[in-house]
Amino acid sequence: MRAVAILKEGTSPEVTDLPTPEPGPDEIRVQVRAAGVNPADGKAASGAFGPVVVPYIPGFDGAGIVEKLGEAVTAFKIGDRVFGRLGRIGRGTYAEYVTTKETAVVAEMPAGLEFAQAAAVPVAGLTAYGILEELGLRAPATILIVGATGGVGSFLTQFASRAGLLVVATARPQLREKVQALGATHVVDHTDSTPLPQQISAAGIAELDALVDLVGDQDLLLALGRLLRAEGGLVSTVGAVDQAAPYAASARAWNYSKQPTKHQLEELAALFQTDEIVVPLERVLDLAEGPRVLEESLTGHLHGKTVLEITV
Ligand SMILES: NC(=O)c1ccc[n+]([C@@H]2O[C@H](COP(=O)([O-])OP(=O)(O)OC[C@H]3O[C@@H](n4cnc5c(N)ncnc54)[C@H](OP(=O)(O)O)[C@@H]3O)[C@@H](O)[C@H]2O)c1
Repeated sequence: MRAVAILKEGTSPEVTDLPTPEPGPDEIRVQVRAAGVNPADGKAASGAFGPVVVPYIPGFDGAGIVEKLGEAVTAFKIGDRVFGRLGRIGRGTYAEYVTTKETAVVAEMPAGLEFAQAAAVPVAGLTAYGILEELGLRAPATILIVGATGGVGSFLTQFASRAGLLVVATARPQLREKVQALGATHVVDHTDSTPLPQQISAAGIAELDALVDLVGDQDLLLALGRLLRAEGGLVSTVGAVDQAAPYAASARAWNYSKQPTKHQLEELAALFQTDEIVVPLERVLDLAEGPRVLEESLTGHLHGKTVLEITV
């Protein structure tokens, strides 16, 4: 099968031919039609989550068609259109085929979504969904999202807005309208020389109920933490919350680390049936662009979602 893979430890990934994986007894084999790109792809391929064993195929998110079943599989049948976290570390979705356990975070694709759209959802959508669940906010609470224009932020902005929250989003000027269209009520510019706390106060916002950090600037968190109301929630997806920081004395502050569930993916899939949530698809590229986007995923400056399409 055609795949993007690291073939020798320490070398760059390349487009190559590898044996098509065989499903185990409780696994399905999916013909991948689109692979979603996440920063975790680049981090994992750099060894951040454990040793890189070659051949290493990156990619966690995917959407495609079930085309082979292990003998014990009961939840899926051949021809099902599925999406989810189809890839595992090193046995990823940047490939024509991937095998995954039927009990993994995989579900039937929402009707009405194309493969590329569905592949863009799992990691970012489930993270946004999980964060909002953990924050437990009620309308009309105010939430600040730092990094709102990336994958997680683009979903979180929509979910928060749909829940009736007042969403303050960071965005560079050229993305202001985009993030407003997703539901941001106030937009502050992280590239402006005026510090964000000042911009937020100038927008008439005295206090935040929640602050979600998708970026990891600890000095910025310290400054923004002063705007959090007592008992407010501060959560970081990049491990930037410091329990010794002043904000932690009064706010609930934690680093997000929850593993998503199949049930959450099914709930998320149902949201797309309603048309209320849009998939923030920014770029659909050919699989051959995999090595390049893997590098890009590490920059921290992706906007919306990038997907690799695999033509058959
Ligand atoms: N813990 C978990 O379970 C979990 C789950 C999912 C993701 N994550 C992590 O969460 C992070 C975000 O994920 P993602 O998929 O949303 O990443 P992404 O798609 O790369 O988006 C990052 C966004 O942050 C913005 N940004 C960068 N620097 C900024 C700054 N100083 N101030 C404000 N915005 C800034 C970028 O916009 P500009 O280019 O305009 O700056 C970009 O839109 C990644 O590090 C990812 O690995 C963790």
